[in-house]
Amino acid sequence: MLSLPGSTQSLDDYTTSLCELLESPLVRQITGGIHVNDALIHDAWGALPRDWTTWWSSLPDHRLAQHHLIDSIDDAHTSIASPEPDVGTPPESLTEWLQQLRSASLSRAQRAGPCIDLPPELSARMNTKKKAEVSVAAAFIRDACAERNITRVIDIGSGHGYLSVTLAYLFPELRVLAIDGSESQVAASTSFAATLGVPQDKLTQLVRYVDGKTSALAEEMAAWADGQRCILVGLHACGQLSEHMLRYFTRLPFIDSLAAVGCCYNHIVPRSPECPDGFPISARLRSRHVTLSATALMTGCQAPNNWERADLGSPDSTFSNRRLFRAIFEKLLHDKGIDGSSAKSRTPWGIRKGDMASFAPFARRAMHSLQIEDGAMSDAELAAYHHKYQHCKGQIAILWTLSVLCCKLVESVVALDRYCYLVEQGTPQVDVVPIFDYRISPRNLMMVARK
Ligand SMILES: C[S@@+](CC[C@H](N)C(=O)[O-])C[C@H]1O[C@@H](n2cnc3c(N)ncnc32)[C@H](O)[C@@H]1O
Repeated sequence: MLSLPGSTQSLDDYTTSLCELLESPLVRQITGGIHVNDALIHDAWGALPRDWTTWWSSLPDHRLAQHHLIDSIDDAHTSIASPEPDVGTPPESLTEWLQQLRSASLSRAQRAGPCIDLPPELSARMNTKKKAEVSVAAAFIRDACAERNITRVIDIGSGHGYLSVTLAYLFPELRVLAIDGSESQVAASTSFAATLGVPQDKLTQLVRYVDGKTSALAEEMAAWADGQRCILVGLHACGQLSEHMLRYFTRLPFIDSLAAVGCCYNHIVPRSPECPDGFPISARLRSRHVTLSATALMTGCQAPNNWERADLGSPDSTFSNRRLFRAIFEKLLHDKGIDGSSAKSRTPWGIRKGDMASFAPFARRAMHSLQIEDGAMSDAELAAYHHKYQHCKGQIAILWTLSVLCCKLVESVVALDRYCYLVEQGTPQVDVVPIFDYRISPRNLMMVARK
């Protein structure tokens, strides 16, 4: 069962409220309708509710507004009325909207579950985040296997093998098949296993690109399973890879269970005539014509609650300057009728330290990358545009924060779609488990299913 957020009573109600919010003009605008880079071209600030922009403009520092917005989508935050001292009272409509955003998102609070202590020979190879993930995921998979009498694990997108090697090394009863599309990842995993002396009959490693279509891989997995039931697992299976896993789970009879955490939603491919299997994959969301723009999918990869908090006593970050410069540059291109996308081959746009000193060197570097002649914009023009729009820095910073504020909403839509797909395929037990501590691993929703 899916744990529905807040006071939502049924899956139908939840789907409706999520879709309505997603379709609302404001959410559409901030998740790609007007990209922050184009904010000055399309007056994105002016398109926001007037009482919100008036309140934000009245604050002594735009970072206070950013903090307030970010705090408001924090699961641990109880009151969003006036979270920071001296901020005053936000407009009621803003408070209501933030409340709506929060209550439409699936809870990310880590669900209590088993955890193992990794021995030093394993943990020494992992960073803090990976250690935390593997300690919990390995314990979860061990218990899921024990419950169903499963001894075979197929790890898809196994990468450096942190999970698959741990499972094969720690649990004598398990045999693991690790599959990854990247030769270098599998090589790293193979060497990791070799240094620990994991025998090859315990851990089989395959370089295979999973495209969801090949029955050849399904046959290889079946041959390896040798008539035994398996659990299919994935630790941060990027974009569509998670969807391919769901299809393998529902279609292959020897796959009994599934435990998959997704990530990199920007690699999800939207449904189209060329990609009929694309997002959304469930009949429920397809019937509601749910779409997520490329910007929205990118938003789903963000975790603003985990960002380092700006110290209001120190100068604004270079990120804010960069976003402002980028928006001014786009406005200049637009006003001069220059098509910045027409360059045949782009020079990699490596911003150097000196480029951020002021707008002119930033713009010159961008022009160079886009193969726009220096003479196309004079120094005087660059200076005039900067002068005209520099006061918009706070607005652009707040618009940027707004654009990532729907991260949990987007992730909830993706999780709901996957959940519904599994249910529609007749899977009797499906759950979405916030398995990791969000503050360490923001991509913490695990799709758990059993036949
Ligand atoms: C985010 S990494 C996670 C790696 C590993 N599970 C971990 O947690 O450390 C995703 C891995 O999936 C692999 N991958 C992504 N798409 C794939 C595909 N379509 N077929 C096979 N492997 C894929 C990548 O090569 C990468 O190693």
